[in-house]
Amino acid sequence: MDPRVLSPLDRLLELADAGLRASFGRSPGSRPTPGNPTVTPADPGLRRHVAGLMRVNHAGEIAAQGLYHGQALAARAVDTRAALRQAAAEEGDHLAWCRERLDELGSRPSLLDPLWYAGSVAIGALAGLAGDRVSLGFMAETERQVEGHLADHLERLPADDSRSRAIVQQMQADEVGHGRAAVAAGAEPLPEPVPKLMRLTAGIMTGTAYWI
Ligand SMILES: [Fe+2]
Ligand SMILES: [Fe+2]
Repeated sequence: MDPRVLSPLDRLLELADAGLRASFGRSPGSRPTPGNPTVTPADPGLRRHVAGLMRVNHAGEIAAQGLYHGQALAARAVDTRAALRQAAAEEGDHLAWCRERLDELGSRPSLLDPLWYAGSVAIGALAGLAGDRVSLGFMAETERQVEGHLADHLERLPADDSRSRAIVQQMQADEVGHGRAAVAAGAEPLPEPVPKLMRLTAGIMTGTAYWI
């Protein structure tokens, strides 16, 4: 048997491994974390607030990994699968940066990270089953919504927390690039109820991950 051909069980185990790594692992990013690590809010309440926002961003990146892994699983064309896996790998930097910032703030990631990952794999696989162009449309819409969400966080982060701001700004710039890549690869616009549903689902996650 060709060792590169994966059975459904192999793929499932690969996903479980990726989910555990994303939720509990500490892989370093491929690029250095933006900003100056010594900048941290002195006020404990403010520090907790920033940690809440960075926990939400970390959970969002876990969800992005899950979505793209799920979509890759159901992708039909080899090129689409490769593009989705590449996107997930690039989100790995964001995951590492948010995790590092949480450490610096003396905080932790969301306890529900494995749940965000598993739920996102299921949603991603559904999007993938709808066809590659729809799946790429889903990726473009995800990136658009994340970009808007990060813009909101930039308004809520303290003006003098240059470290957290630099991380979020670089993530935002990367997400714009990911969205453009999805459109260039042939993304199809999604029918109206879908983006609204996506916003609703993301809202549940971000509202919860700030606290838990
Ligand atoms: Fe990201
Ligand atoms: Fe992205």
